[in-house]
Amino acid sequence: MEETIVIKGGNRLEGEIHLQGSKNSSLPVLAATVLVDGVSVIHNCPDLTDVTAAVKILEHLGCKVTREGDTLTVDSRFVTGNSIPDSLMREMRSSIVFLGSVLGRTGQARLSSPGGCEIGLRPIDLHISSLKAMGVVIDESRGYVSCTKDKVRRDTVISLSFPSVGATENIILAGALGRGRTVILNAAREPEIRDLADFLNSCGCRVELTNQGTVIIDAVEKAHGTRHRIIPDRIVALTYLSAVAVSGGDVLITNTDTDDYRTVLPFFQRAGCEIADSKKQIRIKMNRRPRALDDIRTMPYPGFPTDAQAALMAVACFAKGTSVIVENIFEGRFKHVGELVRMGAKIKLEGRVALIDGVETLYGTRVECPDLRAGAALVVAGLAARGVTTVCSLKHIDRGYENIEACLKRVGADIERVQNAESKMQN
Ligand code: UD1
Repeated sequence: MEETIVIKGGNRLEGEIHLQGSKNSSLPVLAATVLVDGVSVIHNCPDLTDVTAAVKILEHLGCKVTREGDTLTVDSRFVTGNSIPDSLMREMRSSIVFLGSVLGRTGQARLSSPGGCEIGLRPIDLHISSLKAMGVVIDESRGYVSCTKDKVRRDTVISLSFPSVGATENIILAGALGRGRTVILNAAREPEIRDLADFLNSCGCRVELTNQGTVIIDAVEKAHGTRHRIIPDRIVALTYLSAVAVSGGDVLITNTDTDDYRTVLPFFQRAGCEIADSKKQIRIKMNRRPRALDDIRTMPYPGFPTDAQAALMAVACFAKGTSVIVENIFEGRFKHVGELVRMGAKIKLEGRVALIDGVETLYGTRVECPDLRAGAALVVAGLAARGVTTVCSLKHIDRGYENIEACLKRVGADIERVQNAESKMQN
């Protein structure tokens, strides 16, 4: 029986939300534990299907993993494998980040190619060309990427043509152990990269980040066990801020780090939200219909995050006036548009540009999550829509949101996860 989230829109949100740890940080940090000849204790690790997929890969490679609350303990003293089968790779596209760590630890890696996903093609050409520049011999055939690391490492300077998050992580992981210095120019500067570097440095590795997007990795012989706390999830924080922006209310989000999404806060303020933040927590008050958002253009960090684009579009749907959103990072990232239009939103799409004419009312209906962040945006829209919204295909939302319905219910939303939405839909 399919699970759905059923929302009766219209409630103001009031209270406190304790934010989960970051998915996009947990995955590379868990991959990085493969490099460790010891035990890594990872706190603030959210319970998500993507994290479960990463744990399955770790276990397949010979690591022993246990969870107690939000703490994962990974014993990677005995890494016995260097190949990840297609079935495990397909559970999570970002498992490509294991390429660098398996290669770094064992000198070899064989992974199935990630292929496409819900938000676009997601090529790995930058990962591959960077590893080749580091002296890795790569064979790509029959859907697999097979890599062998050069034992006599030379120093390498890699200049990325685009600051890819995944490629930056893979280079750091592949260069952390062994010999030589790797320098990445035009590296991604996302907070999750900083978290990965912090984890590795606490294991005895030497990864230096500069504010200008240069990363310097000096390989060390060995990485030892450590204790690390995953950073809070900035995208989930922005999703809950969007929820209050459309529903109205007064909510305090704790366990956050507002420095990681400071450039996005003015969009909420200009929409009419009152924001008070003290870095580790943020309070949002909203008592009016949102004003149209300024032009949003998604960019690499510290620009507007593509992962928050869908949730802010849900806000724009209710706003007074016209908002413009330009998606510059992923070509397939407007799949929520069709579902929002089914709810009564007025959106025009031209290539990478969306024009949103705000309306006073959206109407609840049955909607499908096309991907993770689009799914969260539909939940946001449902909170303020008239009537009942039934959100289907929750497998996407569960990849990145820990108990989204419980968090929103706690602050007053009429929301529940049900096995069969029929009875509530007839109300
Ligand atoms: C990560 C995040 C994802 C976020 C994205 C951009 C994780 C697990 N996922 O994804 O949530 O939306 O960063 O902030 O952290 N590209 C290439 N060739 C490559 C690699 C990337 O052309 O080899 C392109 C992609 O197609 C895309 C753009 O670069 O258009 C950004 O991709 P990238 O920064 O690599 O995103 P991910 O690491 O996949």
